Amino acid sequence: MASVPDIRSCEKKLWDSSNLRKYCLNFEEVPRLFYDDPRVDEFICSHKPVVILGSNLVKPAIDRWSLEYIERNMGTDVNTVFFSRNHKFKYFDDKKIHSCNNPRGVEFSPPMRKEEMKIEDFMKRLREWKRGEERLYMQQSLTSAVGPNIVQDFIGFNWKWINSKQKAHNWGKLTSNLLYISMEGNVTPCHYDEQENFFAEVHGYKRCILFSPDQFQCMYPYPVHHPHDRQSMVDLEKPDHTKFPKFRDAKGLEAVIGPGDVLYIPIYWWHHVESLMRLGPTITINFWYKAGPTAIEYPLRDHQKVSIMRNIEKMLLEVLQDPKEVGPLLRNMVLGRFED
Ligand code: FUM
Ligand code: FE
Repeated sequence: MASVPDIRSCEKKLWDSSNLRKYCLNFEEVPRLFYDDPRVDEFICSHKPVVILGSNLVKPAIDRWSLEYIERNMGTDVNTVFFSRNHKFKYFDDKKIHSCNNPRGVEFSPPMRKEEMKIEDFMKRLREWKRGEERLYMQQSLTSAVGPNIVQDFIGFNWKWINSKQKAHNWGKLTSNLLYISMEGNVTPCHYDEQENFFAEVHGYKRCILFSPDQFQCMYPYPVHHPHDRQSMVDLEKPDHTKFPKFRDAKGLEAVIGPGDVLYIPIYWWHHVESLMRLGPTITINFWYKAGPTAIEYPLRDHQKVSIMRNIEKMLLEVLQDPKEVGPLLRNMVLGRFED
């Protein structure tokens, strides 16, 4: 792939390092390219993140979706809102809580709680929020239940462009568009998703820190049966290097995205997302696509190997029936064979 010139110098920068959280790793920048640059497709094709500029993907939302407009037009259905005692919103799968049988017998305690709220109740809580109260983060799928103005805006997204990307890269179907409304400073800790993602910033600034699937060993994912499946056990803000020594070797990339930017987050790439501090709330819309059918080529790609590892873990759990036995069996298999 040709080297990418930095066009950052032409862009107006409305944030600085004081708006970013501090971590003990250094990150390389994700390249920023205009939507019509042929290298965008090279990045997508090779499963590398890229910030795409000027696509107008969510232009109607950028033009109109203030918090007030969303409140007036979202509709009467309830929305999913997460509440957290701190700035971290670490996702968990409540369907897996019962199977989480920690070896020390410690019960899983959810790090955040979920409430279904009317949009006006969420916005009121957001407006009246005071330091020391639970933080809020709305993460709601855009469905046909939204009001007619939002539907019109949605229809006006640049489907021509995004459909052409879906087709060119042989992706499967668009599965959902999540609308994220975040307080400044909120963090979604490091995890990976099993879908391709175009992550479109509407309002405010987010920083995404990304690690490739080939860094699996450095990232220490929870077991597949655990409620925190697909999440890293490492807290990027204070990594425990004794428990997770290989995290020191992790090589991350970072991108700060603002209104109009679309970050391509490739399937199985680890990502840690923060709304920048002291710059107000953020609004983002994601476009999640199933991976398409791909002709198998060898050697397999790193994300395909992660998928295989997940399947092996799931199969072992099925035959062993006890999540506590999966790790020791895998360890025995590997150490028994190679450590002589
Ligand atoms: O907080 C976030 O915007 C997270 C996004 C994601 O995980 O895809
Ligand atoms: Fe994600």
